[in-house]
Amino acid sequence: MTKAAFIGLGVMGYPMAGHLAAKGYDVTVFNRSAAKAARWAAEHKGKRAPTPREAAEGAELVFTCVGNDDDVRAVVLGKDGAFAGMKQGAILVDHTTASAALARELEGAGKAKGIGVLDAPVSGGEAGAKNGKLTVMVGGESAIFDRARKAMECYGLAVTLMGPAGSGQLTKMVNQICIAGLVQALSEGANFAVRAGLDARRVFEVISKGAAQSWQMENRHATMLEGKYDFGFAVDWMRKDLAICLAEAERNGARLPVTALVDQFYKHVQAKGGRRYDTSSLMLLLTKD
Ligand SMILES: NC(=O)c1ccc[n+]([C@@H]2O[C@H](COP(=O)([O-])OP(=O)(O)OC[C@H]3O[C@@H](n4cnc5c(N)ncnc54)[C@H](OP(=O)(O)O)[C@@H]3O)[C@@H](O)[C@H]2O)c1
Repeated sequence: MTKAAFIGLGVMGYPMAGHLAAKGYDVTVFNRSAAKAARWAAEHKGKRAPTPREAAEGAELVFTCVGNDDDVRAVVLGKDGAFAGMKQGAILVDHTTASAALARELEGAGKAKGIGVLDAPVSGGEAGAKNGKLTVMVGGESAIFDRARKAMECYGLAVTLMGPAGSGQLTKMVNQICIAGLVQALSEGANFAVRAGLDARRVFEVISKGAAQSWQMENRHATMLEGKYDFGFAVDWMRKDLAICLAEAERNGARLPVTALVDQFYKHVQAKGGRRYDTSSLMLLLTKD
């Protein structure tokens, strides 16, 4: 039985760790608020530890899925972080959406200790995590990827090595850039349909069969038309991700005019109290005067 540790039992991490346990991995979990770890351990007949260091002791694979760059540093590089407990030859897989610079920093720190590191952000949301159908975009060395791939396939439908350290995070940035402009366009289309006096639901039933089709259109148009915005990825998380994209673009010279604009729209949603609304809440800036 492969010994594994999972650190960060949030919306994503909780079910991902559950899939590992269900597939026979010997999983020890850590979560900052201990109640979640206790609930997970009871539900999955697994073990929990009081620090990331202790969770990681003896593990061959250590997974993290926390919030942002600094959260990852806290649970990996801190005094009681995972690296302090990991043995030589073990592998850290970071599923947090973070910067490419952090991925390279972790890889360097891991190399100094003989620990392999992969950056492996995911896409597919809470539903994808629960039903084990995430897309996992991985950066790192292929020999390390080959050893961790089977474990990631416990919750990943598509697990792909994109290139050296940071490439997983860069791929996730492309994903978020593509979504940002698309959700604004979908909001504008939905609002236009309503104001034009059309049956907006029928409009989307029809055009989602054609060239305008998208995951966002198929999965979100109905709730957007009802003004319901609690169906997934939060605006706070999206702004964190867009900040990462915009900072990376400053470095590589890519122009992101629409992404920068949509980021400002999300800032407006936050100011209206929508920090935990899902990303389709761009619609409310159009429907409410
Ligand atoms: N939700 C999605 O649909 C989705 C989709 C794709 C990618 N992601 C990305 O996946 C990551 C996790 O998202 P999530 O939705 O699972 O977030 P979440 O529900 O807010 O959970 C965050 C987890 O990280 C822990 N954490 C945060 N900061 C920490 C720190 N400094 N030290 C120790 N633990 C810390 C939290 O512990 P506590 O329980 O103690 O707060 C919690 O377990 C984020 O990077 C997010 O951008 C999310």
